[in-house]
Amino acid sequence: MVSLSGLAIFGLTLVSRVSATILQNGQVREVNFPDTRVDPSAHSFKTYPPNATEISYKGRWDSQYVSWWSAPGIKFGYTGQTVAISFGNLTDDGVLVGYRIGGLDWIFTNITAGGTHLLVSPETPGSGETGPINPWTFEMRVSNWAYGVQIDAVHVADGEKLVKIPEFGRRIEVIGDSLASGMYATYEGLSSWGYGLGAGLGNTEFAVTAYPGICVADQDCWGNPRGQVHQWFYTADTSYRASVIHGENPEPWDFKKQPAADIVVINIGTNDRNEANNVSTEAYIDAYTKVIQGIHGKWPKAQVVVMSLWLGFYQSGNTYFPEASQGWVKEIYQMVEWFNSDAYLRNPIIYDGVTKKTSNTGKKAKPFVHYFNTTGIMQHNDIGPQWHPTDVGAIKVASHLQQFIRMKFDWDFYATGPEVFHETLYWNDETNY
Ligand SMILES: *[C@@H]1O[C@H](CO)[C@@H](O)[C@H](O)[C@H]1NC(C)=O
Ligand SMILES: *[C@@H]1O[C@H](CO)[C@@H](O)[C@H](O)[C@H]1NC(C)=O
Ligand SMILES: *[C@@H]1O[C@H](CO)[C@@H](O)[C@H](O)[C@H]1NC(C)=O
Ligand SMILES: *[C@@H]1O[C@H](CO)[C@@H](O)[C@H](O)[C@H]1NC(C)=O
Ligand SMILES: *[C@@H]1O[C@H](CO)[C@@H](O)[C@H](O)[C@H]1NC(C)=O
Repeated sequence: MVSLSGLAIFGLTLVSRVSATILQNGQVREVNFPDTRVDPSAHSFKTYPPNATEISYKGRWDSQYVSWWSAPGIKFGYTGQTVAISFGNLTDDGVLVGYRIGGLDWIFTNITAGGTHLLVSPETPGSGETGPINPWTFEMRVSNWAYGVQIDAVHVADGEKLVKIPEFGRRIEVIGDSLASGMYATYEGLSSWGYGLGAGLGNTEFAVTAYPGICVADQDCWGNPRGQVHQWFYTADTSYRASVIHGENPEPWDFKKQPAADIVVINIGTNDRNEANNVSTEAYIDAYTKVIQGIHGKWPKAQVVVMSLWLGFYQSGNTYFPEASQGWVKEIYQMVEWFNSDAYLRNPIIYDGVTKKTSNTGKKAKPFVHYFNTTGIMQHNDIGPQWHPTDVGAIKVASHLQQFIRMKFDWDFYATGPEVFHETLYWNDETNY
């Protein structure tokens, strides 16, 4: 049987970094992360401050341009063949980021706190191409949820410039825990289904407001001091880093900073479900309900997709079965049905996670809460030894969600070629073996 303590989904993160080994069917993957740090005084740059209107911030960033949650990023257009970034001293030293030009493959590099990194030069793949994506775009995303970067300045070559890239017209938000944030996937956030859903749909802005170990109920779970019913309304996550940087002055998230999400996908409860956190069914459903009412308050037109939970698999004789108690399967479904009842839709309720106030909208609503059944999407070997989706598991979840969203909301697939998941090219080179 599955040991539930195996799901201890680790909120306690330390500032010191440890290096990981990527395993492919038990074999060590060779990784090559170029060293991109440079001495800025040896270059002649045109420099932009972090609040330059040309820089578009993806996901949640605070007033000091520090990144939070899973796979936050920046994107901008540029001229010339040079892009460098100076990172502030609130950067986690050594944090791994992915970056790329246009829709080409992600390149990974370790970032130094207080350092300047040359990320695009004439040698960078794609640097010499003149199209078809015009102006050429640069995108960077942080791979790990617990570590972050602080943008101090963006540089291009002297005489060149940054160009503002308009944001895409549709938006997705993923709310969750370690399962959405890519814990134990090869490139973490950039290998997660949360990221893969947004990036895989294409032409979609997305944010992954997910953090390992977090409950939805507002209590300490695995060292995360608050639950999503509180934290989703704030800029920073529940990391130790947040307690150091924001201390007693957490920044409520300014929902006006970005347009409303059109679709919000939620996968939360695996940590609430864990006996170690002792969350009652009532407390779980109450908090989950308030998150949905919070979304409806902030973004009245958003469609909410509630995912059923999974725990993992156990071997039973000559096959495998899902862990019996997957987590409030019936209760989650009943909650979705309640949101869709005439009684509720006649008089819907909204919730504000900062003031903790609940009120009626006074406006009838059309059904906006949908159920996504995860049973049967992943099989036992799609969950890694540490109880989280492997890269393949994450790709399956993302792909099924994409198709669900296409069928339910008539969203077209626009990513028809760019890399989404990095280093997933497994094949054989013989025709007849
Ligand atoms: C990047 O960091 C990893 C540890 O996470 C280390 O193994 C590797 O040598 C570093 N690479 C460079 C180029 O500094
Ligand atoms: C950026 O910040 C600087 C210094 O705080 C300020 O003077 C400037 O007006 C800001 N620029 C924009 C575009 O907000
Ligand atoms: C971090 O940088 C800021 C601004 O550059 C500076 O005022 C501050 O002293 C620095 N803090 C540390 C710990 O180096
Ligand atoms: C779990 O919660 C219940 C009800 O809130 C409480 O009575 C009980 O003492 C708690 N158990 C633990 C181990 O914290
Ligand atoms: C979810 O899918 C499983 C497998 O197809 C099915 O047995 C179950 O009834 C479904 N749940 C709901 C609520 O539709």
